[in-house]
Amino acid sequence: MSLSPQFLDELRARTTLSTLIAKSVKLQKAGREFRACCPFHNEKSPSFYVNDEKGFYHCFGCGAHGDAIRWMTDQGGLAFMDAVKELAATASMEVPAADPRARERAEQSLGLIEAMAAAARWFEEQLAGIEGAAARAYLDQRGISESQRRAFGIGYAPDSRGKLKAALGQFGNDLLVEAGMLISVEGKDPYDRFRGRLMIPIRDQRSRVIAFGGRILGDGEPKYLNSPDTPLFDKGRTLFNIDRASPAARKANRLIVVEGYMDVIALDRAGIQESVAPLGTALTEGQLERMWRMAELPILCFDGDGAGQKAAIRAAHRALPMIAPGRTLRFVTLPQGQDPDDLVRAGGKAAVDRLLEAPEPLVERLWKHEIASAPLDTPEARAGLRRRLSELVATIGDASVRDQYGQEFRRRFDEIFSTPPRQQNFGRQKFERGRPGRPGKWTPPLLPASSQARAIGGSGIDLAMTRAILSGLIRYPDIIQNHAEEIGALAISDQKLDRLRSRLISAAFDEPHLECDSLRAILANAGLGTVMETILGTNGLAFSFLRSNADSERARRDLAAVIATLASRPELDAALAAVTEQLKIVTDDATLAEQERLRAARDEAERVLIELIRGESDLG
Ligand code: UTP
Ligand code: MN
Repeated sequence: MSLSPQFLDELRARTTLSTLIAKSVKLQKAGREFRACCPFHNEKSPSFYVNDEKGFYHCFGCGAHGDAIRWMTDQGGLAFMDAVKELAATASMEVPAADPRARERAEQSLGLIEAMAAAARWFEEQLAGIEGAAARAYLDQRGISESQRRAFGIGYAPDSRGKLKAALGQFGNDLLVEAGMLISVEGKDPYDRFRGRLMIPIRDQRSRVIAFGGRILGDGEPKYLNSPDTPLFDKGRTLFNIDRASPAARKANRLIVVEGYMDVIALDRAGIQESVAPLGTALTEGQLERMWRMAELPILCFDGDGAGQKAAIRAAHRALPMIAPGRTLRFVTLPQGQDPDDLVRAGGKAAVDRLLEAPEPLVERLWKHEIASAPLDTPEARAGLRRRLSELVATIGDASVRDQYGQEFRRRFDEIFSTPPRQQNFGRQKFERGRPGRPGKWTPPLLPASSQARAIGGSGIDLAMTRAILSGLIRYPDIIQNHAEEIGALAISDQKLDRLRSRLISAAFDEPHLECDSLRAILANAGLGTVMETILGTNGLAFSFLRSNADSERARRDLAAVIATLASRPELDAALAAVTEQLKIVTDDATLAEQERLRAARDEAERVLIELIRGESDLG
C-alpha cells in the first residue's frame, strides 16, 4: 500500500505537533515555539525546539529533527504505517483503503509473526532444558551471561528433524515452510531447518522476531545458518539488533556497525548497546538508510583483515550517492586478528572506547585506499589516480558535498604531486638539520663514488638498494604511514618487490600501530614469506637501519632520508631536464640560476645517499 504525498501533507497539517509531543515531553513556550530538554539525548538545559507552524521539531544539541510521523517512528518506535494510522485516527482521517491482496498479505504475515514468536520461545525453552546442556556450556565458555541470553532471546534448536515441526504443529506445515523454519523438498516430508544450533533471533525495529541466525556449537560448517528471505525477512534491509540499538544510539549519540552477531553481543557485554550488524552480506543501501535514521555518523568497526577492510571500502563506495551535509560514515579498524569479541575480552569497555575515540572520516578512508591501491611512480599512474578520484567524486549524490570532496581531493593531490614537487626536499636544510654540531661547516669532498653509489646514480633503483629500503621498512614499519607517498613513488622494477611494497603500505594503513612481528605475519600470509626472508638477509649496504644493533632513532631518520632522497630524484631529474631544454631556447639569468639550483639539489641528494650508505650520516 502506498500513500500519496497529498494524503501525508494533509495528515501533517491536521496534526498539532506540540500537542503530540507534549504527550511524552514537558514543553515550555518560547516565543512562537516550544522548548524542552531533548528526549533523544541527555541534557540539562533545553535545546529541543518544536515549531507548530513548520510542523518540525529540532534539537540543536544532537541534531534530532523531524515531523509528526518521524516523531512517532523515532520516539515512539512505531513502523511508518503504524505511525500514519495512529496520527490519522487522532486527526479523524481515513487511511486510504489497502487493496485486498495487501490485506491478505497482512493477515498472513500476522500468522508468520506469531509462528516466529512461538519458535523463539520454544528455542529458549530448549536451551533451558535437558537437551540444551551443550549449548549452555558453549554460552558459558563464551562469557554470555544469563541476562544477555534473555536480552537477545538466545535459544537452542535440538538436533532433530521433527521436534520443532511437532511443537509448532498448530501453525501448519505450509506456514512454517513459508516462515523458513521448515525445509520442504519435493516428495519428502518437510523437516526442521535448524538442528543442533544455538539460535539467535533477528528482530525488527518493533522487536518482533522475523528470522534466526543459527550458530553451530563449536567448530563446523557452515558456522551460521540463517533464515532464508521470507515475507517477513529481507536480509538486505535488516540489521541485527536494530530494536535495541535504535533508542541506545539516540542516547549515546553514536551508532557502531560491526560485522557479526557475536560482535554485537560482545559490545553489549561491555555496556555498549548501540551497535548493529548486517547479516553476513555487504552493507546495502537499505541498511545504510536505516543506520542513518539512528545516527548521523555511524562508525563502521570492521576487522583489520583483508575481508573486513574490503567490506569497509565497499560500504564507503556504496554510501557516496547517499551522503549529505552532516550525514556520512566514519571508520575504525580493529587491530589485526582481533574482533570486537576479542577486544572486549582483552580490555573491556575502555579498550572499545579507546578504539572509537578518533574514527577516520570517510574522505580519509577513500583517499588512503586510492593512494595505496597502485604505485604512483609514473605520470600515467598519477593521472590514473586523479581519474579514479574524480570518478569517486562523481558518484556523490549531494551537490554541495560533491563539490567539497572535489576540492579536498584536488588539494591533497596537489600537495603531493604539484610542481615543483616537494620543494622542502630540494634544499639542504632537511639533510643538515641533524648536524647541529657543525653548523655551516664545509662537508668534506666526496671520495670517488663506490660501485654501490654509482648504481644508484641511474634512474631506477638498483636491487640492493630496493631490498635495503624494504628491509628497513619491515624493521621500522612505524615510519611507513608518514612516508607512504614517497615509498609509493619509488621506481621499483622487480615485480615481487613491488608487490611487497604495496602490501607494506596497505598494512600500515590498516593498522596504525603496526609492529615488525605482525607485519612479518601479514607478509607471510600474503604469500610473500620467501621474498621477505631474502630481503631481511640483505646486508650488502652499510645503512644504519640494516644493523641489528642500530640506534633505532637514527635508523628511522636515516631510512626516512633515503626514501625522501630517492623519491625526489626522478622529479629532480625531470625538472633539470626541462630547464636544460628551456635553456636551449632562451638563456636568461633566472633560468640559469634555476638550473644551478636543481643541479646542486641533485648532487646534494646523491651526496646524502652516499653518506647514508657509508653509515656516516650525522650521528647527532
Ligand atoms: P563471523 O565469522 O565474524 O562471526 O561472521 P561472529 O559473529 O564473529 O561469530 P563467532 O564469534 O565466530 O561465533 C560475521 C557474520 O557473518 C555471517 C553472520 O551474520 C556472522 O555474524 N555469517 C558468517 C554467516 O551468515 N554464515 C557463516 O557461515 C559465517
Ligand atoms: Mn567473532
